[in-house]
Amino acid sequence: MTNAELILEAKKVRERAYAPYSHHSVGAALVTKSGKIYHGCNIENAAYGPTNCAERTAFFRAVYEGEREFTKIAIAGGMEETDGNAPCAPCGVCRQVMMEFCDPETFKIVLANGEEEPLEYTLKELLPLGFGPDNLK
Ligand code: THU
Repeated sequence: MTNAELILEAKKVRERAYAPYSHHSVGAALVTKSGKIYHGCNIENAAYGPTNCAERTAFFRAVYEGEREFTKIAIAGGMEETDGNAPCAPCGVCRQVMMEFCDPETFKIVLANGEEEPLEYTLKELLPLGFGPDNLK
């Protein structure tokens, strides 16, 4: 699947976002090593703190299903009245969750970029000097 197709997957599930407080809705499409896709949306909470981002929803769904190896995540989001085509970068907490399960050198983070080719970063680019499982060996 191309990055542009993956962004479409993220945009599709963005419609499932539960974001009555921020009105900022996000969708994510996470790809496993075997090529399976796990989707996620953000899920907010009246107490604010328990809010779960789209990226973490996708990771937690996948890990619950037994997946541990991932190659890529596509993210599309923005204020709910927008088309979700502007880049929506993952928050620090989500980058840290990626660090738990992904190789920072090879795991790719794909962001919508308007009419242009989606942006693509490695986890290492977005989380330099990250702390991860290797630090506890
Ligand atoms: N959010 C995500 O789901 N992913 C991101 O990459 C950035 C932020 C959500 C969390 C919250 O529900 C809303 O967007 C505003 O922060």
